[in-house]
Amino acid sequence: MDPRSEVILRQLDFFQGDVLLAGLPADQLMYKLIPKVSSLCAWSWHFGDYTALNQLGSECHFSAEPPEQQFDQAIIFLPKSKELTDYLLQRIASRLKPQGQIFLVGEKRAGIERASKQLQPFGKTLKLDSARHCQLWQCILSGAVSDKPLPDWAKTIVLEQFNKLKVVSLPGVFSHGHLDNGTALLLQHLDQLPKGDLLDFGCGTGVIGCFLKKKYPAQTVHFLDVDAFALAATRLSLAANQIDENEGVQLIAGGGIVDAPQNLAAIISNPPFHQGIHTSYQASEDLFRQAALHLENTRKVKGELRIVANSFLKYPPLLQQRFGHCHTLAQGHGFYVYQAIRN
Ligand SMILES: C[S@@+](CC[C@H](N)C(=O)[O-])C[C@H]1O[C@@H](n2cnc3c(N)ncnc32)[C@H](O)[C@@H]1O
Repeated sequence: MDPRSEVILRQLDFFQGDVLLAGLPADQLMYKLIPKVSSLCAWSWHFGDYTALNQLGSECHFSAEPPEQQFDQAIIFLPKSKELTDYLLQRIASRLKPQGQIFLVGEKRAGIERASKQLQPFGKTLKLDSARHCQLWQCILSGAVSDKPLPDWAKTIVLEQFNKLKVVSLPGVFSHGHLDNGTALLLQHLDQLPKGDLLDFGCGTGVIGCFLKKKYPAQTVHFLDVDAFALAATRLSLAANQIDENEGVQLIAGGGIVDAPQNLAAIISNPPFHQGIHTSYQASEDLFRQAALHLENTRKVKGELRIVANSFLKYPPLLQQRFGHCHTLAQGHGFYVYQAIRN
């Protein structure tokens, strides 16, 4: 059981009525809460947790938008990003009934003490528990909160150096409001990709895929991410660049490369090495291990994987192991662009 869920279970008597669980981990918490409350609704924006919860038999809402209905209480699991915490608090508070309650739970190393201050504008706050390196806070709403829809939280930047490409990002999405140096290096080295379908793996704001669609308009571009906010931001980036979502574009909510299409001409990525506040190489290692299964291998097209990575990440040996080689196409600002081609 996740330590945050354990802390919630220590305080079961506080929970009643129609309850929303937001950003919950994929564990048994829902089963333990169901007998205590009138109704329980789970909301996750992480595709991996969403599928795991469904497999556990708990119905879950996957979206960047909160569920429509009204709740008496909401339990929010603190996300990594401060902006995303603001978003969740505001949008969820607007769906609470009068005198509704927000509970915020998080690990101390994730900054729960600091985040508890973000609760203060909504009403009276109180620390209910501190255990398992986590804290649980309660806030009783002091008045009605007006809703602020998702697009109002977006930040748009214009990349003058890349043909004025527009990038729209949302709270919690990687490099919110700026272009990552690694991604910038990769965008400079996307020439001569093979003909066929392209995949932007871990698309985030969709910056790489939108750039690809502008550069290779006749080729289909697939955008895959585990995060509903990333997919929502990608949709906004496509619209901002007047790229028609129905013309050679596919958005995929997926838990990893396993959810990508087959026969791709190229997989392009600034691959993830974090899961929330924790370092995790799982998604990247799976990508290197299984990319070849998703790449075209015909006489005409040899599919390729092209990625950017921090210089401290030891990816080349993994790529060599799988592809028999790893070419370095560029380096700069502490990043490398690597290329591996199917053979
Ligand atoms: C380093 S960011 C790159 C984002 C974007 N491509 C860019 O360059 O700005 C990595 C992205 O991978 C996504 N991600 C993390 N784990 C994933 C997984 N298991 N499957 C698919 N995407 C994942 C994250 O949500 C994040 O958007």
